[in-house]
Amino acid sequence: MLVSVRDTDWDGVRLHVVTGKGGTGKTTVAGALALALASRGKRVLLIEVEGRQGIAQLFDVPPLPYEERRVAVAPADDDRPGGDVFALPVDPQSAMIDYLAMFYNMRQAGKALTRLGVLDFATTIAPGLGDVLVTGKAAEAVRRKEAGRPVYGAVVMDAPPTGRIGRFLNVASEISGLAKVGPIRGHADTVQSVIRSPQTAVHFVTLLEEMPVQETLDGIAELREVGDGGIQPGGIMVNMMRPFGLSDVEQSGSATGKMTDDKAGAAQARDADALAIALKAAGLDDQGLAADLAAELADEARTARAQREQREQLDAAGQPCYELPLIPDGIDLAGLYRLAAALREQGAA
Ligand SMILES: Nc1ncnc2c1ncn2[C@@H]1O[C@H](COP(=O)(O)OP(=O)(O)O)[C@@H](O)[C@H]1O
Ligand SMILES: [Mg+2]
Repeated sequence: MLVSVRDTDWDGVRLHVVTGKGGTGKTTVAGALALALASRGKRVLLIEVEGRQGIAQLFDVPPLPYEERRVAVAPADDDRPGGDVFALPVDPQSAMIDYLAMFYNMRQAGKALTRLGVLDFATTIAPGLGDVLVTGKAAEAVRRKEAGRPVYGAVVMDAPPTGRIGRFLNVASEISGLAKVGPIRGHADTVQSVIRSPQTAVHFVTLLEEMPVQETLDGIAELREVGDGGIQPGGIMVNMMRPFGLSDVEQSGSATGKMTDDKAGAAQARDADALAIALKAAGLDDQGLAADLAAELADEARTARAQREQREQLDAAGQPCYELPLIPDGIDLAGLYRLAAALREQGAA
């Protein structure tokens, strides 16, 4: 494994768990983070746990089997060649077969159990069992070595949404009612020793909107509280940031931070007057147009102010924040590389 020369905010982290409210860009950001880490010369495994083939779509490759496959090569960084990004979709059944094969040399038995529906049944009655198998696969990839060296420099997990992340990662306690001793218990303990170590960080993807920001804050608090020192919260990735082109409007709207609606209304009237004069000078003598434009500017200012308030709340959580731009035409590979570059420039990888 090549060791990077530049510091990042998460140098000691080998398992990057990416969560967030659904639809905020979890899968996209997990993919970008994997690329960003790989461009530092690491071999990276990107794990998807919710079985929607989101990673295959993101990297524009055919649906992925339960098999570690290379999906991308990161661009070279200065004089260092880019590393490979491998991907693996993990579901509880496949992870169970893998587990039986790895620890008991019982792959055929596992397959038979699957055919009989036993594994389906087991993971349905004991959801914690499914979680321990899935997180167990990630922990195994983190710990895996060949010739004394880690096979993967980093593992990135496109994890369940914020509302489920605490339970999903807190597998040891989830499993405790189920298996007090024995191999599953031992497996769960090994998994926990990875997840609760400084080798693991949980990153949150959010938008600058009330709901996802609140979920992010709740999620961070939950991780800190899971007991035995908690699980390390990582960075906050603020996704789909739109640049405000009208920065002076934003300032006029809220130079003092918070503004009453009265004051905002007065400012809007002033803006309309100023605009009318400017439009007239430009030969566009139209009060209606000026009023419309002023209303639009006031709207932008309000949004900017609301976003700034959300951002202040995020800052108060005390975790590093990274901003990812909205890619105007949607995410394609080029857009994904742009997000990866943004993560790197800001020190996330
Ligand atoms: N920075 C971005 N700019 C533009 N579109 C984005 C960005 N991030 C995500 N998207 C789009 O938003 C949608 C949801 O993203 P996805 O990563 O699938 O979210 P999640 O995994 O949280 O459900 C997708 O269509 C994705 O292409
Ligand atoms: Mg997703």
